[in-house]
Amino acid sequence: MRICILGATGLVGSELLTLIARAWPTAELALYASRDQTLAHGGDTHEVQAASSLERGDAPGGDLAFVALDDQYSARYCPRLVELGYRVIDKSNTYRMNPEVPLVVAGVNHHRATSATKLVANPNCTTIPLTLALEPLRARFGLGEITVSSYQAISGAGLAPLSRFVDMTVEGFTRMQTAGELWGELLDPAEYPGNVVPHSGKTDDSGFSSEERKLVNESRKILELPELGISAQCCRVPVPAGHYENVWIELERGADAEEISEALASGPFVHYHPGADGAGLTALATVHRRDHALVGRLRKDNRDTDGRRWCLTVAADNLRLGAATNAVRIASAWFPASDPLLGIPSLRQA
Ligand SMILES: NC(=O)c1ccc[n+]([C@@H]2O[C@H](COP(=O)([O-])OP(=O)(O)OC[C@H]3O[C@@H](n4cnc5c(N)ncnc54)[C@H](OP(=O)(O)O)[C@@H]3O)[C@@H](O)[C@H]2O)c1
Repeated sequence: MRICILGATGLVGSELLTLIARAWPTAELALYASRDQTLAHGGDTHEVQAASSLERGDAPGGDLAFVALDDQYSARYCPRLVELGYRVIDKSNTYRMNPEVPLVVAGVNHHRATSATKLVANPNCTTIPLTLALEPLRARFGLGEITVSSYQAISGAGLAPLSRFVDMTVEGFTRMQTAGELWGELLDPAEYPGNVVPHSGKTDDSGFSSEERKLVNESRKILELPELGISAQCCRVPVPAGHYENVWIELERGADAEEISEALASGPFVHYHPGADGAGLTALATVHRRDHALVGRLRKDNRDTDGRRWCLTVAADNLRLGAATNAVRIASAWFPASDPLLGIPSLRQA
């Protein structure tokens, strides 16, 4: 089996390398990035080729390709990989809302990756854990309106912004400490360290950013509820990894806390935290349980009158569950994974 990773030197590509060794330990690897280079990973050194070499007439074919590149490069290379015979899982935004391309969350709608499918889109890093939490509720109680507020880690922006954030945090807090300044006046209000920043890139006429529109539109497509009433506001917070989402849920049918907890705890790839206080449910806790959505803080919305309105929290490692792990699980529908945690469950009847 020959597997290629485009973007092998990036944050998501690096997680893919780790997971592929667990899922398909004997696979032959072909790694690509912007240019020829060597990559040190997990004690090994890998040769990485320029992705542009895939455009040559003699580029080799293979079985499975993970594409972890920015949108414009995905658009450039995914069609070529399909032409070369690969089954492709793309992690960018490029194909997610294309009606011809399945948008898949393993554990929710992986039946959409069939033996005939050649290209699958991997959803946004906040959408994957959110839909894993919503699907068991949809199946048991039906979904009314959903409201989400997200607190997203800096690694969601890629390797270069993460490195810059760590450097600026060290430098900024050292400067504060040296000057005896505690309120953050010496930090830059436009930068991430010590700050909360609206995730407002590509805000359109609706007033919502592309990150907010992704969460809304992708959730509707994955849950197959095109009319789902869902709205989101997204921020970046100064943590390295782990996206955190506070969610207000309206169910179609009223239920009590025990029934809802039971549904959530039975969800594939969900680690349910019982209790309303959210003990252990932090952004950084996700980095210690990287392949699950952490779900908890379940409590009745104070405005509820009939058991239909609830609040809960969903958190997940954006690089693993939110990106690489989901991609590997989707691929396991075609190529069964050696590690059962990276395989797909049988889907329950809705
Ligand atoms: N970070 C997350 O939490 C997350 C979650 C879900 C989805 N995603 C999506 O996954 C994709 C990758 O994200 P990331 O965070 O891993 O980004 P990243 O850390 O910035 O890595 C980007 C990768 O793209 C490569 N690249 C840059 N220019 C290229 C070119 N001209 N041709 C070929 N390769 C090129 C880089 O190679 P060089 O090292 O050679 O520059 C690097 O391997 C993006 O579409 C992102 O939106 C990210």
